[in-house]
Amino acid sequence: RAVAVIMVGGPTKGTRFRPLSLNIPKPLFPLAGQPMVNHPISACKQIPNLAQVYLIGFYEEREFALFVSSISNELRVPVRYLKEDKPHGSAGGLYNFRDLIMEDNPVLLSSYSHVIYSNNRHIGERSHIFLLNCDVCCSFPLPEMLEAHRSYGGIGTILVIKVSPESANQFGELVADPVTNELLHYTEKPETFVSDRINCGVYIFTPDIFTAIQGVSSQRKDRATLRRVSSFEALQPANRSLPTDFVRLDQDILSPLAGKKQFYVYETMDFWEQIKTPGMSLKCSGLYLAQYRFTSPHLLASGDGTKNATISGDVYIHPSAKVHPTAKIGPNVSISANARIGAGARLVSCIILDGVEIKENAVVIHAIVGWKSSIGRWSRVQAAGDYNAKLGITILGESVTVEDEVVVINSIVLPNKTLNLSVQEEIIL
Ligand code: GDD
Repeated sequence: RAVAVIMVGGPTKGTRFRPLSLNIPKPLFPLAGQPMVNHPISACKQIPNLAQVYLIGFYEEREFALFVSSISNELRVPVRYLKEDKPHGSAGGLYNFRDLIMEDNPVLLSSYSHVIYSNNRHIGERSHIFLLNCDVCCSFPLPEMLEAHRSYGGIGTILVIKVSPESANQFGELVADPVTNELLHYTEKPETFVSDRINCGVYIFTPDIFTAIQGVSSQRKDRATLRRVSSFEALQPANRSLPTDFVRLDQDILSPLAGKKQFYVYETMDFWEQIKTPGMSLKCSGLYLAQYRFTSPHLLASGDGTKNATISGDVYIHPSAKVHPTAKIGPNVSISANARIGAGARLVSCIILDGVEIKENAVVIHAIVGWKSSIGRWSRVQAAGDYNAKLGITILGESVTVEDEVVVINSIVLPNKTLNLSVQEEIIL
């Protein structure tokens, strides 16, 4: 039996995703025409004996309720949203819902000690918990990871990838044994270079992970008690502000348990990116569109037939969108529901959200056009296309109006603005 848990965070996270996260929880922002979290959920369908997918977060229940029921029906995977009352950290969130997650495993539930291990031998196959960060974009090679995890026999297997040495410090850097794949050393976002192998935020655990998390939590409690009775706090400033039930998987679990034959790594050679900013969401939309060629070719628009627009490269067009046959679209374009694309419009590398109108002969390049916005005739909304730069793509928030013949370059426009003059390198508040 296997369960999958996807960490979706909450409204206080994802601030770098503004202004797009002002309208919609970041995990529901569409990439390649599907909510961000659909991509890992779809990948979970490849897990053998999957009983349930849980989304754990601290967004309001109602923000996920509709989504969860529609995605469960659409993908025929049971999905359930579990709301934390406050952030517990990536490991604390998992631990908080341990009883639910292990629901069908009464033997494992009754105790978190080494008894589990011996009991489990009688059960035969151990159960597996897949844990996925919602804000990563990759091919999620879960069956391959599972096979590796089984052969290692540890309590956890981490998906890792090699990145450029310059970019590694944005992630958890790690060192693994090249032969046994054991995790030997782990440092979260280190200031000085440790390794170009990084943590992808995708894991497989055995239920023993709960013992490890509980260990950290009780250690914190002991320290807190000690602090109350002595001046211990002054000696341990780093631990002063962390509540006992706040446990981070990376710093609090992986770092101290590295080199103890508990964690192993599985390296992917496929694509992987982290989705913290709107710029990266545009890049990742393109990566998922490219993946559709292999996984869901029916989702890609084809330019066949005289009635259709000219399509080049990977393009997603929602069935309810209306695209004029003389428009030219692609590559890396995704057009959401009820959008209208006028005659002679040219769209390259962009995400067009629900209800947008792009009028005749307008051009959109390297941009995200927010819900119900409108772009006037002969206007241009564009950017240089540097996904990592703050103004590397142009973003229009919800209900922005760009009037006819206006040029918007390398800019961010907050919701409900009307632009009647051209702008460049500006943030319009
Ligand atoms: N439910 C819940 N509760 N989710 C959380 C919480 C929490 O308290 N804190 C974080 N998350 C979710 C985020 O939404 C995200 O999907 C994931 O957990 C990881 O977020 P962070 O803990 O903020 O870490 P990070 O994204 O900066 O870095 C982590 O992921 C990288 C890979 O994407 C680290 O593990 C890095 O080492 C790793 O490289």
